[in-house]
Amino acid sequence: MTLQGKKILLGVCGSIAAFKAVILVRQLVKQGAMVRVIMTPDAAAFVAPLTFSTLSKNEVYIHFYEKGEQVWHNHVELGLWADLLLIAPATANTMAKLANGLCDNLLCATYLSARCPVYIAPAMDLDMWQHPATRRNINLLQAAGNHMLSVGTGELASGLWGEGRLAEPETILQHLVAFFTTAPLPLAGKQVLITAGPTYEPIDPVRFIGNRSSGKMGLALAETALQMGASVCLVLGTNSLSINPHPKLTVIPVETAEQMFAATVTHFAAAHIAILAAAVSDYTPAQTHPVKIKKTEQDLTLTLRKTKDILAYLGTVKQPHQILVGFALETNNEQENAQQKLVKKNLDFIVLNSLQNPGAGFQHTTNQVSILNKENNWTHYPLLSKQETAAHILQTITAAYQNQQP
Ligand SMILES: Cc1cc2nc3c(=O)[nH]c(=O)nc-3n(C[C@H](O)[C@H](O)[C@H](O)COP(=O)(O)O)c2cc1C
Repeated sequence: MTLQGKKILLGVCGSIAAFKAVILVRQLVKQGAMVRVIMTPDAAAFVAPLTFSTLSKNEVYIHFYEKGEQVWHNHVELGLWADLLLIAPATANTMAKLANGLCDNLLCATYLSARCPVYIAPAMDLDMWQHPATRRNINLLQAAGNHMLSVGTGELASGLWGEGRLAEPETILQHLVAFFTTAPLPLAGKQVLITAGPTYEPIDPVRFIGNRSSGKMGLALAETALQMGASVCLVLGTNSLSINPHPKLTVIPVETAEQMFAATVTHFAAAHIAILAAAVSDYTPAQTHPVKIKKTEQDLTLTLRKTKDILAYLGTVKQPHQILVGFALETNNEQENAQQKLVKKNLDFIVLNSLQNPGAGFQHTTNQVSILNKENNWTHYPLLSKQETAAHILQTITAAYQNQQP
């Protein structure tokens, strides 16, 4: 049991995702952890405290003191007892309070008193998650040294679809196990370079040639590599993703294929692993008009010139200790084209997503990929979330990287 004897203090807030905290308590106890639960007064409207006290085999704490009783629940004692404080689900409201040091309930007071590491797993609706106030509070909590866990993407309690779901209990558990495990993380000390998103090639000051890439797959790869202990350099084309800051994450925003080439080549020398998931434009206007092109009665012809092939260039300068991974998005002869690309560009792996699979590729939160290695072996995966897909890709690459080192 990996969490044997660890003292976990779980804070539960007033979110519909509070039911997942019940599953989490069961799993923590199964792993041998000692669990104590603090609920906010609002959380008690979502899940009965009796459920938590039964599963944790401990009293559940909600108020500073119970009405009519002369004893108080000592938040300082609770904060000092814990090896780790986990707040899951963390509401927008509680995160705002914690970020600003408010102390009007037992959970907030315990957070301020705790000396142990704090993990925060947010859960809320899409628009609450993206609101500038929430983004600001997350940055403040991160800057204060808390470990912010990523949210999942999917159907939300409101019926909307998007980011904001509480991380799955298994994922939260993995984070806690990783924290208490003394073995180094598989990518500790390694530099991973990732490109993501589209490139925009300007035609004039208001128009561009672009593509439908959202950058979600590349971002999922970056988050997973960080969880595996790597330092990540993310060269990111224009997108609307919200990115959680991380001390080991450097984001380099770029717009054009030329800028992406320059940034990627600059950072490749220091990289142990490079994964090029961006959708780089193959062509760019030969000339960018300095002023907006006026509409006329005539047709307009644009001359396009080829952009530099980033993957092919990196393949020519790659060192034996480096792993280079490309993505292929094909619409026909997928496997054959991907295999040719791997050989031609001197790649170690190619990840193929086929536009023929519904739910895979651009814009989706899910993906269905196949991975080809240099030995011409294919591994096919089912339709998975982009986070799960990223985990498979990085596990495959990491195993090869470890085997390749002298
Ligand atoms: C049905 C329902 C579901 C809610 N789900 C969430 C949620 O997932 N995340 C969130 O930040 N707020 C959610 N709220 C709003 C919070 O419950 C509200 O902000 C509350 O004051 C939070 O209190 P607490 O942070 O002290 O637990 C929900 C409210 C209702 C009525």
